[in-house]
Amino acid sequence: MDILDHLTIPSPLHQVRTAWSAAAAIELYIKRDDLIHPIISGNKWRKLSGILSHYDKTTYREIITFGGAFSNHLVATAASCAILKIPCTGIIRGEEPKQLNGVLKLCEMYGMRLTFVSREEYKEHNRQLGIYEEKLFIPEGGACEQGTLGCFEVLREIELKEISKVFVACGTGTTIAGMSKFMDSTNDGTPLYGIQVLKGNGYIAKDLQDVYGIHNVTIYDEFHCGGYAKTSPELMDFIKEFTSETGILLDPVYTGKMMLAIKKLCISGDIKKGDKVIAIHTGGLTGWFGKVDEL
Ligand SMILES: Cc1ncc(COP(=O)(O)O)c(C=O)c1O
Repeated sequence: MDILDHLTIPSPLHQVRTAWSAAAAIELYIKRDDLIHPIISGNKWRKLSGILSHYDKTTYREIITFGGAFSNHLVATAASCAILKIPCTGIIRGEEPKQLNGVLKLCEMYGMRLTFVSREEYKEHNRQLGIYEEKLFIPEGGACEQGTLGCFEVLREIELKEISKVFVACGTGTTIAGMSKFMDSTNDGTPLYGIQVLKGNGYIAKDLQDVYGIHNVTIYDEFHCGGYAKTSPELMDFIKEFTSETGILLDPVYTGKMMLAIKKLCISGDIKKGDKVIAIHTGGLTGWFGKVDEL
């Protein structure tokens, strides 16, 4: 069976209405990449699709990939490999815990072999994309040139005419890099905005310029809510309210911060009355495994 038979591609675009979007008089749409698959969701699939389609499947016998203990990418890779019937190993950063968390348990359920390495050893691993000794190595988070190419497709599936602004959450910048390349290829002038979910002054904007030569996106670096995977009572309250208002669950690490930023940009007037805004739901709901206690 083809992996695409397991996936909802193209993903739907849903219009939502909240008290704040109505007050700002904007039209808010969500590109539901979270609905692509319960586990291989959002930009995880987009990146993996770019990577997997780049290599001839007969040239490798195993997939090796990398990540932290709550990595959405690891579990998405595990599920993809189960469907594709390819053995896979996850190299996990940090000592083996006494008890596996929900994400790692799911990885095991999908048949991924887990190898824990110390943070020092992890740094020494060659984590570049490529085939070595018939093993396909996929970098942490699927962050690589081929990963960006898969992210082209997110925007190809949307009619962008009349859309004022497109927003996406950024960790490494790979997803927005692919989306920006798509914009360039179509000469579509729809402005693209990234919400940086890690602390650090302008580092994604800088990486996009240095690594990919990208200048056509705006990155907001002030909406990280305390740093990567950090939450705040304001963020948690916002996600709860958004979920009950729309029936759409956001994750606490990426899409929750993106949507809260959109709300704040409405209040500040950066998003204006009459704007038609698309937010990309990049999935990642397994992030709740590590965060439910903070609700
Ligand atoms: C759910 C989710 N959204 C957004 C991102 C950010 O993507 P990128 O690292 O390509 O900027 C990630 C991380 O890969 C993610 O897991």
